[in-house]
Amino acid sequence: MNKKKKLRRSGAKIMTSLILLLGSLSYIMVLAVINGSFGFICAMGVTLMGAVGVAKALGESIALSYGLIIGLAVGFGALRGLLRYIEQYSNHYIAFRLLAVLRDKIFAALRLLSPAKLESKQKGSIIAMITSDIEVLEVFYAHTISPICIAIIVSAAVVLFTGFVSSWWLAFVALVGFVTIGIIVPLISSKRLKASGVRYRAEFASFNAYFLDSIKGIKDLVLNNAGKEREKEVNHRSDLLLTETKKLKRDTTKAAAATELWVSAFILIALAVGILLVAQGTLSIGRMIIGVVAVFGSFGPVIAISALPGDLTQTLAAGDRVLNLLAEEPAVRPVTNGKTIDFEKLEVNNLSFSYDGKTPVLSDVSIRAEKGEIVGIVGKSGSGKSTLLKLLLRFWQKDKGEINYNGIDIDEIDTDSLLDNVTLVSQETYLFDETIEDNLRIAKADATMEEIEAACKLASVHDFILTLPDGYQTRVGMLGDNLSSGEKQRIGLARAFLRGSELILLDEPTSNVDSINEGIILKALKEQKRKKSIILVSHRESTMAIADRIYRSKIENITDKKNEA
Ligand SMILES: Nc1ncnc2c1ncn2[C@@H]1O[C@H](COP(=O)(O)OP(=O)(O)OP(=O)(O)O)[C@@H](O)[C@H]1O
Ligand SMILES: [Mg+2]
Repeated sequence: MNKKKKLRRSGAKIMTSLILLLGSLSYIMVLAVINGSFGFICAMGVTLMGAVGVAKALGESIALSYGLIIGLAVGFGALRGLLRYIEQYSNHYIAFRLLAVLRDKIFAALRLLSPAKLESKQKGSIIAMITSDIEVLEVFYAHTISPICIAIIVSAAVVLFTGFVSSWWLAFVALVGFVTIGIIVPLISSKRLKASGVRYRAEFASFNAYFLDSIKGIKDLVLNNAGKEREKEVNHRSDLLLTETKKLKRDTTKAAAATELWVSAFILIALAVGILLVAQGTLSIGRMIIGVVAVFGSFGPVIAISALPGDLTQTLAAGDRVLNLLAEEPAVRPVTNGKTIDFEKLEVNNLSFSYDGKTPVLSDVSIRAEKGEIVGIVGKSGSGKSTLLKLLLRFWQKDKGEINYNGIDIDEIDTDSLLDNVTLVSQETYLFDETIEDNLRIAKADATMEEIEAACKLASVHDFILTLPDGYQTRVGMLGDNLSSGEKQRIGLARAFLRGSELILLDEPTSNVDSINEGIILKALKEQKRKKSIILVSHRESTMAIADRIYRSKIENITDKKNEA
């Protein structure tokens, strides 16, 4: 993840797309920006009214009475408080809503992409996306865009106010100050900060990894009496980390100091220009005071920009990854207005398929299955058995040939109806960190306890579940990795029985099960057969004993060698 990858989009494109992604949240963002800007202007208003009062006392002709000036100052103060509240409120609202909206969008995209595209994507990077990338983006929306907008609005307002009320020379000084402090200084220091940030993070990660590793292996260190050596190395690495930390802190402090220095410099310049203008007689003292006070108090928003989370590159990379995922084309789109079916028969004719468009995985495969049949498919590992089952559920789009249910092309069948009729028990069953009962219930949310137990008995896992500490109420997480593959597999099988589909596709249902349990499961399947149709995939011949018809697959080709049972 640390490797530098080229971004697919330009920075500007990423930012625009991210803002467009906000959708209906954007108006709250606008509200936050307006509130933030007015809030700051109100805060300035309090001191500015002081300056106006002083100017009036110095004989400046000002249309406001003293009472009104004081009233305005108090009003600005009160308004500042209120606006601040609204600003904070909308910022937090955005932050939380944003996380929800982004997660929602990503899950929706994943839902469409699964299961096909997720096989090829690394699970790790998706988890990173859902956690850290979204957090990074939240910072971008809630704490990057709005400070920038606020700085632009407030700075423009100050320049205009100073220009019109006091002097355009002072306004010009302010403008140069804003550009210097808000853009030039951060750009210069961000280069150095970024470099030391990268070094610091690398050192930090390496130290952490080494330290954790040492703790994990502490037993072996003690056994080999290698503790002293290890301690030396830990100390050495800790010193390295300390050096990088110091460098980073020094650079951060330097950057902050540079900003402060420039602020002071521009305040002095404004003061000098103001005095000069008064000396030349082009500006009255009163208006000079108002202008200079306005400039003095106006650097807050640009200082905030210079203190922004320095690493915009990280934000852009996160944005790019999220946008890539959202733009990813799914392997198949769900059919929503298709035909519904009640499974009677399945016919696969001359089916060909390849994942990458080049390497054929299935070519010219023909099989059929009718209600009440057990159809067996045997073949070597990698010959495309699991692929065939995935195609039968339309996880991928078939390339050539036909897959027809009840004579209807699979691409015309409503996806919900297809999934109601056909259930796949895949080679690996995933169990959620919930109770065993909850894990079974995902197959049928409103199942009664009797139904659940019946399904588990069929799958030969009921007795095992009863031996768990809390039976069906045992949390899977509590068991750690203590469930064997075979036990998981049988829970997967129980799910399929509970789901009650007419056609059950079993991908190596007994590969991790001992021969006693295999016998029990196969017997259960055979009993089910009167009610259900089953397609049974295995590379074990023994499993095929119960099949009515067997197809044997060679690599890249499943041939229909009839083998009447
Ligand atoms: N998502 C995928 N993308 C690209 N290639 C894939 C994908 N899934 C499987 N393959 C490839 O397709 C071929 C067939 O795989 P498949 O899983 O269907 O074989 P299988 O017969 O089920 O094997 P096994 O008996 O080991 O389960 C293999 O060469 C595999 O590497
Ligand atoms: Mg397989």
